[in-house]
Amino acid sequence: MRTLNVAMIGGGFMGKAHALAYAAMPMYFWPAPALPRRKVVVDLTEEAAQDAQRRFGFDESATNWRAVVERDDVDIIDICTPNDSHAEIAIAAARAGKHIICEKPLARTAAEAKTMLDAVVGSGSIHMVAFNYRRTPAVALARKFIEDGRIGEVLNFRGTYLQDWSANPDSPLSWRFQKSVAGSGAIGDIATHALDFARYLVGDVASVNALVKTYIPTRPKQSGTVDKLGVGGGNRDAERGPVDVDDEVMTMLKFANGAVGSLEATRNAYGRNNFLTFEIHGSKGSLAFNYERRDELQAMFADDPEDARGFRTIYTGAPHPYGDGLWPIPALGIGYGDTKIIECYDLIKAIVSAEQPSPNFEDGYRISLIADAIAKSAEAGAWVDVA
Ligand SMILES: NC(=O)c1ccc[n+]([C@@H]2O[C@H](COP(=O)([O-])OP(=O)(O)OC[C@H]3O[C@@H](n4cnc5c(N)ncnc54)[C@H](O)[C@@H]3O)[C@@H](O)[C@H]2O)c1
Repeated sequence: MRTLNVAMIGGGFMGKAHALAYAAMPMYFWPAPALPRRKVVVDLTEEAAQDAQRRFGFDESATNWRAVVERDDVDIIDICTPNDSHAEIAIAAARAGKHIICEKPLARTAAEAKTMLDAVVGSGSIHMVAFNYRRTPAVALARKFIEDGRIGEVLNFRGTYLQDWSANPDSPLSWRFQKSVAGSGAIGDIATHALDFARYLVGDVASVNALVKTYIPTRPKQSGTVDKLGVGGGNRDAERGPVDVDDEVMTMLKFANGAVGSLEATRNAYGRNNFLTFEIHGSKGSLAFNYERRDELQAMFADDPEDARGFRTIYTGAPHPYGDGLWPIPALGIGYGDTKIIECYDLIKAIVSAEQPSPNFEDGYRISLIADAIAKSAEAGAWVDVA
């Protein structure tokens, strides 16, 4: 069985999720398409890199991603750093002929995402952007039902991504609240996941009419480079610095195929933790999903007998997408890690088959175009066509 050596850049939250996926993927999906080997992990300081090496089971650690990208014994560059370094690393990786998985959002702006797309086109690199939520089996099942025509023509998409980890005004001014690093706030960080659902399940977005809001204009400055996502509650006594990104976004959507929709994303919705949802109405039925109940897809089929009509709960398991690699009994529990394991499986399969996976950098670029249009629309107070 072929081995593919992975260099992972960034050993924070996503570093943990991706390392888990490399280790567990062959245990879930066997025979594995190839064996990912955790070769080298890179972080900013020796201490952080060595810590990540030991914790995440890599052979080596390093602090200079440029040297790592050039290494002959590395096959895959895995970008798990904050958004401001995605483009630089991905472009260098493409030039070095490496396969690439890059965390979302692909970049801070569509223009930056385009430079990454241009770099991978013709490079021979397999490329993927890590919108892992679509790898939840219930979401993949929704796509299958739509493709099979089970809900007819899609009329309407309603997406939300509501969190509350930054609702506390004293949670720190991490990189996620700095435009120069993150590019945007709720738009790039979480709305893009819901946009990936919208494109995956309905199709491309043609125009948007949005508003955005920043509720908390300053936050206490933080030490260190890792965003702890509000854990620990923050430091009310620390010096405060300005937040220059959005906390909340709402938008109406017009899809190219005539469907309509709406999307709301905020990190200030007390009581909502990872409330990533969609509801889709079709001419012959409806589908609904809530990531907080991620084993379940709610489905209503209008051709059910009249006295049995209504939403039914389908617990995903062996008969459903990716079921052969997961647990044999439905409702044993899909976790966040499972979505990353499935993502890793699809990446490795794509590399072995030499066929681009989805979502790839083209998809990441198209989502950045929608994100840019949302920001432009909010500023203009008008409908904006997606470029
Ligand atoms: N797919 C998802 O569900 C999901 C969830 C969280 C974050 N993300 C994305 O993953 C990326 C990383 O987010 P995170 O939550 O893991 O951040 P984090 O703050 O937890 O970790 C980032 C790590 O990268 C390191 N780093 C920063 N710059 C570096 C550089 N130039 N070279 C090497 N290491 C560097 C930091 O020291 C830190 O260890 C972001 O793009 C984010 O949007 C995706």
